[in-house]
Amino acid sequence: MNSWKNGRKILLGITGGIAAYKIPSLVRLIGKSECECEIIMTGSAKNFVAPMTLETLSGHKVRDDDSFDGTIPHIKLSHWADVLVIAPCTANTLAKIAHGIADNLLTSAVIAAPQKCPVLIFPAMNEDMYDNPATQDNMKTLASRGVRVVQPSEGALACGVSGRGRMPEPHEILHEVFRALCVHDMAGRRVLVTAGPTHEYIDPVRYISNPSTGKMGVSMARSAWYRGAEVKLIAGPVEVDSYGLDVVRVKSAEEMFSAVRENLSWADYVVKAAAVGDFRAKDFTPRKIKREGRDVITLELVQNPDIAAEVGRLKREGQVLVGFAAETDNVNENARAKLKRKNLDYILANDVTGKNTGFASDTNTLRLIPRNPDEPEQIFSGLKEDIAFEIWSRLIAG
Ligand SMILES: Cc1cc2nc3c(=O)[nH]c(=O)nc-3n(C[C@H](O)[C@H](O)[C@H](O)COP(=O)(O)O)c2cc1C
Repeated sequence: MNSWKNGRKILLGITGGIAAYKIPSLVRLIGKSECECEIIMTGSAKNFVAPMTLETLSGHKVRDDDSFDGTIPHIKLSHWADVLVIAPCTANTLAKIAHGIADNLLTSAVIAAPQKCPVLIFPAMNEDMYDNPATQDNMKTLASRGVRVVQPSEGALACGVSGRGRMPEPHEILHEVFRALCVHDMAGRRVLVTAGPTHEYIDPVRYISNPSTGKMGVSMARSAWYRGAEVKLIAGPVEVDSYGLDVVRVKSAEEMFSAVRENLSWADYVVKAAAVGDFRAKDFTPRKIKREGRDVITLELVQNPDIAAEVGRLKREGQVLVGFAAETDNVNENARAKLKRKNLDYILANDVTGKNTGFASDTNTLRLIPRNPDEPEQIFSGLKEDIAFEIWSRLIAG
């Protein structure tokens, strides 16, 4: 499956802030995402990161005030771009673009950018520079003109103090760029996603679980966020890149059950991608079970609450419920039966025995089975982050 990101054009402006040292990593990530990237550096930025590094990583000549190839570069580049990003954006460049000053190639490209080209800036500076009323006013001015000003976070700053002014990490910048590249066709829709495994503790140091990494669910949450939806992610105990997402952390199936119930009526779409443990130990042993004196241990298990069935039972008018069926045999038949049994609108059948599918893999193959027999079934295959985007296109076309 071709990725929606393929060939999208990013014009990246780099200014003279210390956070520029992170930009080669961003350029590398952009390259991996199959987007195209052209770079403009201010003269000052070249004191912080070498153009040769960026040229090697982007595969393109870096532009600066001395670049002249017989064309008008600020017009050519800003009209080429699908998005114009400035990271890091110094207090100086922020002030210039807020006042329409165009005294170098980057600020000229900003003023020449057509209305349809989103402009995204990442101010990064010392906290006093950031708090300065001039900087605050400049950010407000730009935001009021539709520029997306991504606020810096708090943390250790290069000047040796801790405070607000840190540029987001490269992968976080890329999430914002992808969000700016997407049409926000899910704006106003509320999406609840569950992801990851659950841990069903037997004693304080052991649990029953499964190999789910949450990648499919997080991709569903992330794609909906790119498309402008309000997203809540209920995540089991896995590492989750939660940037921009409202994440509720849970461990056990029972905790996931209560988190889902609490948020259910809020959601327009409920996507149940978590691999929830069906069983838990009947009795939790509060102290570590010792091996000494025991050759065999018999563990009695009881059923956990069936979250998907409960969601199906409580479904309100207009709500769309989407389940996943991780199966090892009779995949499609089992998935169809689960769809009906749990009163879902769609189910994504997932053969977890396949090569490059299912748990922990970056790729997946899923069959979307709708409840409505007039809607066709559809197979999605590719990177989880790409198929999540395509699944949403299908779901919102409804
Ligand atoms: C070591 C050093 C670090 C700097 N870091 C920052 C910074 O993080 N943010 C910022 O707004 N300015 C910073 N500056 C100041 C800018 O480099 C200066 O305002 C410069 O004129 C910016 O030019 P430009 O906006 O054209 O890139 C720093 C200056 C120096 C010498």
